[in-house]
Amino acid sequence: MKIKVRIGDIGTTKADAILLGIFEDEKKTAGDIANLDKSLNGEIAKLLKQGEIKGKQSEITVIHSLGKIPSDRVTVIGLGKKEDLTEDKIRIITADACRALRKKGAKQIDVTLSGVGVNGITAQTSAQAIAEGALLGLYTFTRHLSKKSEQGEIEQLMITDRNNKNKTAIEHGVNTGTILAEAANLARDMVNEPGNFMTPAIMAAEAKKIAKKYNLTVDVFEREQIQKLGMGAFLGVAQGSAQPPKFIVLKYQGKNAKTIDIALVGKGLTFDSGGISLKPSADMGDMKSDMAGGASVIAAISAIAQFRPKVNVMAIVAATENMPSGTAVKPADILTAMNGKTIEVENTDAEGRLTLADALGYANKQGAKQIIDIATLTGACVVALGDVTTGAFTNNQALVDKVIAAANSAGDKMWQLPMFDEYKEQNKSDVADLKNTGGRKAGAITAALFVGEFAEKTPWVHLDIAGTALLDKPKGYYVKGATGVPTRTLVNLVLSLNNTGDIANES
Ligand code: BES
Ligand code: MN
Ligand code: ZN
Repeated sequence: MKIKVRIGDIGTTKADAILLGIFEDEKKTAGDIANLDKSLNGEIAKLLKQGEIKGKQSEITVIHSLGKIPSDRVTVIGLGKKEDLTEDKIRIITADACRALRKKGAKQIDVTLSGVGVNGITAQTSAQAIAEGALLGLYTFTRHLSKKSEQGEIEQLMITDRNNKNKTAIEHGVNTGTILAEAANLARDMVNEPGNFMTPAIMAAEAKKIAKKYNLTVDVFEREQIQKLGMGAFLGVAQGSAQPPKFIVLKYQGKNAKTIDIALVGKGLTFDSGGISLKPSADMGDMKSDMAGGASVIAAISAIAQFRPKVNVMAIVAATENMPSGTAVKPADILTAMNGKTIEVENTDAEGRLTLADALGYANKQGAKQIIDIATLTGACVVALGDVTTGAFTNNQALVDKVIAAANSAGDKMWQLPMFDEYKEQNKSDVADLKNTGGRKAGAITAALFVGEFAEKTPWVHLDIAGTALLDKPKGYYVKGATGVPTRTLVNLVLSLNNTGDIANES
């Protein structure tokens, strides 16, 4: 879909549908809408008065223009209560409206900005939210269908505004929103692929493709090099699979200094069967999404490369399958991670933390100043926060505050959980430095504490996206299947580091 900007009056050019927003409790038309309504003989005003248009959030009313204006339909979408409107609501409402119009076969939509001047929303942020909402909400994954569905595609969204002074701001918003949404959709594409189409080798090839496209540095370490690096925990997980592991490193250099200002580490299990501690078969297929953290860091760095902030960023993915086989790691086996810590494998299904142990070990060895890891790590986090909220954990409050602020501006819901020392008891082993399971109680927290052992003293945030990576039904601009969470959050975070200058100004 192409998003364009036009300065002029809405409704004066031909489109399949005109899209207008109306607040709840708005009793009469004003501005752009009143202007257009004149050509419609006051039809919108009449429906408002009669109460057919209530303006409730995402309520859709289609008015056929019967030749009174060049476009066949005018669609009025409810914006909800004025005092409740946010950028995120604009994303959601736009997604709902675009999907409804796609169903009606619309290919070209002309839309006006919503909410400018309300609750701090500007022409730029409204345009960004419209672009994000449309691109995210219209996402489909049809690669493997031999017959594409009946529903067509929306080909063009024309943001129309009367004020020429807004043009640059709108274009800027559209550009920002497009880069963010396309990055999230790239992550979705990777996550939606099943394990046979997203092996570690394919994931590495994807990273290389992105590196080439956006001029990033890329390294892919093979098993032999991974052995040389001493990544015994990662290799332990990989040893049961016929698919060779790949350790993927992407680098974006935004300034001359050779620092790694921030490392984004994503869990990269291209399929998690549980290994010898095999998972039950119901819903096991969902574990194709166990590389969602990895997809989000690869997608995020592709967007970062387009925004070009003065921040050096490294994205790391230890990609492997977790499979049961004669060569697989067994319960009670002891592995040695890159940083020298020994780990008793109590349950081979707690494999994510083993791969992260070495990915964080690598980030630390490279001298990363801050680390964010993103992982579909625990079922316990799904129990705690459902599929709505990502769990956040940290050894550094200032850093997690920045991550949560970045998430809030993306609309990715995130909540911090505690990491009190008292929980550490549960990760103690009699035979090794740590064991990889902490029992039934507080499973998301003990997993985070385990990973924290490998962040060591580096400021670090762990994001558990086990609940939020994949949805079983659409929700606003998230569609069924992969959400792309938290790609946009990660991009916002790196851009915010640039703006505050707290690392960018060092040379
Ligand atoms: N990938 C899973 C976690 C998961 C569960 C992600 C549900 C998405 C939805 C992870 O590797 C896992 O199996 N964790 C175990 C850990 C346990 C054995 C300590 C879990 O949560 O059951
Ligand atoms: Mn597992
Ligand atoms: Zn897993």
